[in-house]
Parts: sequence; C-alpha cells; structure tokens
Amino acid sequence: MDFQRNPDLDPAEREEPFDYSLRPQRLTEYIGQEKVKARLEIALKAALKRSEVLDHVLLFGPPGLGKTTLAHVLANEMGAPCKVIQAPALEKKGDLAAILTNLDEGEFLFIDEIHRLPPAIEEMLYSAMEDRKLDILIGQGPSAQTLKVDLRAFTLVGATTRAGLITKPLHDRFGMVHRLEYYTRAELGIIANRSARVLGVEMAPEGAEAIARRSRGTPRIVNRLLRRCRDYAEVKGQGVITPEIAEACLHLHEVDDLGLDGLDRAYLEALCGKFKGGPVGVRTLAAALGEVEGDALEDLVEPYLMQIGFQDRTPQGRRATDAAYDYLGLKPSAGPLFS
Ligand code: ADE
Repeated sequence: MDFQRNPDLDPAEREEPFDYSLRPQRLTEYIGQEKVKARLEIALKAALKRSEVLDHVLLFGPPGLGKTTLAHVLANEMGAPCKVIQAPALEKKGDLAAILTNLDEGEFLFIDEIHRLPPAIEEMLYSAMEDRKLDILIGQGPSAQTLKVDLRAFTLVGATTRAGLITKPLHDRFGMVHRLEYYTRAELGIIANRSARVLGVEMAPEGAEAIARRSRGTPRIVNRLLRRCRDYAEVKGQGVITPEIAEACLHLHEVDDLGLDGLDRAYLEALCGKFKGGPVGVRTLAAALGEVEGDALEDLVEPYLMQIGFQDRTPQGRRATDAAYDYLGLKPSAGPLFS
C-alpha cells in the first residue's frame, strides 16, 4: 500500500532533517502553546536571575508539535548549546556516561523518545539528574568497584509521545512537565505565513488558510505542505501560492479537507469496515493494514482521529464513532464484531 506518509512509518526517518531556517530560535518567535510558554518564561527568567541552570523539563505530546524546537529555544534563551540524542541510539551504559561526562556547564541535553531508554540506562539518569553524580562500575565480579563521578550542571529536556510509558522515578526527577497541545487553525496560519516569509515564497492569505486547515493541528505538517505548495506554484503557476494552487497541490497529494491522508483513510476503512466499528486492538488493526506498526498508528494516526472525534479508546480496544462513519459515507454496523 502506498501511504502518503510512508516515511513516517519508519521511526528512524520520522523526524525530518532539523530545519533551522523554519524553526523559531527564541520564545517570542514561537507561535502557540501559550500556557507552556508562560510557565517556561517564568522558569527561564528565574534561572537567569539566579545564574542557575534551568530545571529539567519533560515535554510530551503527539509528534510534530515542536518538542525539539522548544528544547533548542530553551537552550538559546539560556545562552547554552544543546546536544540532541534519540533514546534508542543509547545501547550501553557507557554511551550515556560518555555524553554526560562531556557536557559543559549549563549545556542542554535533549533526549527524544525518552520512554524508549533501556531500563539500565534510565536508572543511570536518576542520580545524574538529581545529584549530578554518575555511578560507574569498574571491573567485574567480586573485585568490581563503583566510581562516583561528579557531573557539571546541565539541563535535561526529555521528549515523549507516550506520557503513559514514562516510569514514575524518571517522571519525578523532572522539575517541569509540559504537555504540548494541537495548534489552532489561526496559529497554524500564522506559522504558515512565517515559514513562507523565511522560504521567500509569496502566498495569498487564503493559500495559508488552505494549508492550515489541512495540517492536523501540527506545525511540521504545515511546513511539509508549504514546501509541496511552493514546488507546485513554481512548476504549475507563477511561483505564488494562491488558494487555487494550494487546493490543486493538496488534491494531488491526496490530502483531504480535514487533512486526512491515505493512511488515515485506510485506518478508518479497516476500523469501520473489516472490524465493524470495533472494539479492536491497535496491533490487530496494524496487522490488517500491513507494513504499518502499531506504534506508528498510535503516534501518527490515532491522536488526531481522537482529537477530531472519529475514534474512541475503550479498555476493550478502539471504536469508530458515528462521525467516522459519516466521513466515510457509511452507516454504523448493527453491532461490534467482538464483544
Ligand atoms: N515552526 C514550527 N513550529 C513553530 C512554532 N510553534 N512557532 C513558529 N514557527 C514554527
């Protein structure tokens, strides 16, 4: 099956290349997430006033809402560099020890997908976060010795799409926990206009609206669709993203009026058709769709379908709502396939 978001299916390729040009550098340039920004602004000002490092921050929320961007913004505001690592890349305790002992005073460490840290490595973080100490085991067997290493003060920013998978000891060591929410249409429109300015492409206000409407509350999708519309405008038009150009381009990419694409539709068709509206488990749905992992559905498809009221989660599994049937032009089935 050729899904529109094919690259998203491979977690390793899920992140687009870090695009410094489109991402805001300072908190004042960061659009949306007003409550989170207000809390962070106080914490930043207080830390700067006391000449201390910023407390550790945990960010959670669906992919593409700006967790990585926010980590870089925080580091910029503190005038500090930021190292970025993906949790699954840490395989041995020594990997994390090498990173932590090399951090400079005040430096930021951003660990993405922090819920995927191997338990032994996660445990090393506890004392590193709390006491800035690292226990390193030297040797093996009865003669093994623990060496306590002092670390320089640092700020850990952890990001996760799965708040529920963060263990309590790790969660409790973050001084701040912030949940990022889907963006409003108005905020996405402002982001589209800002990104168009940065890319140097002319866009009509209705062009920005057309992109914002179909971006599933997600700035990463705004920027992706904007790039496709820019290409389309240059090849098929006069280089300006008019509403007609935006509509034609998004139609070509099979992104519909709600921003749902081939993978979302295949998911809804399986849930409403094959599984008669559920309840059905996410792994079963993933198996029915083929080539898609349950994790990809949980991260990339389900949060937005839930947000727009197309899907419910029950202890028995996923259920389609009447709105999902309406969208597909189907009638709800007489009853669930499994009860
Ligand atoms: N680009 C991506 N996310 C953004 C945001 N929240 N504000 C401004 N530009 C962005």
